[in-house]
Amino acid sequence: MENWEITEEIKKLKEERHAIILAHFYTRKEVQEVADFVADSLSLCRAAVNSKAEVIVFAGVHFMAESASIISPEKLVLLPVPDAGCPMADMVTVQALRDAKEKNPEAAVVCYVNSSAAVKAESDICCTSANAINVVNSIENREIIFIPDKNLGAFVSLHTDKKIHLWPGFCHVHDNISDENIKELQKMHPDAEFLAHPECRPEVLNLADNILSTSGIVKEAEKSGSTEFIIGTEREVVQNLKRKYPDKKFYPASEKAFCYNMKKITLESILNSLQNMEYEIHVPEHIRVKAKKALDRMLEISGN
Ligand code: 13P
Ligand code: SF4
Repeated sequence: MENWEITEEIKKLKEERHAIILAHFYTRKEVQEVADFVADSLSLCRAAVNSKAEVIVFAGVHFMAESASIISPEKLVLLPVPDAGCPMADMVTVQALRDAKEKNPEAAVVCYVNSSAAVKAESDICCTSANAINVVNSIENREIIFIPDKNLGAFVSLHTDKKIHLWPGFCHVHDNISDENIKELQKMHPDAEFLAHPECRPEVLNLADNILSTSGIVKEAEKSGSTEFIIGTEREVVQNLKRKYPDKKFYPASEKAFCYNMKKITLESILNSLQNMEYEIHVPEHIRVKAKKALDRMLEISGN
């Protein structure tokens, strides 16, 4: 089948199943084109809560679909490729977190949404890259265990007077962007504004003009007076921006900034998902209820 035929079939099935497709910015172009809503992880969480659809097909990675299922248990949430995971989410386990809590009994746990439902259930509150600073500053505790991203945690620690215990997790896509590469690019394009995702290393963030979530990067590229940008996040965002703003110039911070897990979601897998109603995300109720508290607390702070 040609892409346009698959797309037509998807649209037809979407109506029949009362389904919507939510897609993350890092998914393939053709996947974003068939989606009802394309955004970063915070906006996708909100979209899942606010949608009236009965079925959500999540074009993203496992933790994102799981979050949608946790906060909207009345909806059927499908992940088209069951092993589309986030390696960073696997860098914190329930047992390791329990041990850390025991060692630091005064600390609250702030959990980046890039984590499993079971880890969220052990946490006080969730955050995304768009609201991490506000979330941390909203907490009364003076000490925070920030899991699992050490780079996002280090960035937040520069914007709070709380003591942050960093976790040794990282995103290979962002952590591989090097400061040498950025310095090279800045030499080649001295007028370019460097927009970086906070999952990048501190030495890379030090070179940034603006540190923003994925949606933040997209918005800044739109409203900024600059006409050239170095984009410090997954390279699909660069392609997106080039299509959206053909009069502006966008340079990837690294050609290797590629999330292969997001790219596992294809048009064919979405079609299969709607045809066979798979793969259903199911979170055990005792975990779901606790994880929902941590997500709801976050959504309250960042406005739902
Ligand atoms: P955003 O919160 O910016 O969508 O980031 C999610 C993610 O997985 C980044 O790697
Ligand atoms: Fe995980 Fe990084 Fe991919 Fe985001 S870009 S889903 S953090 S591996």
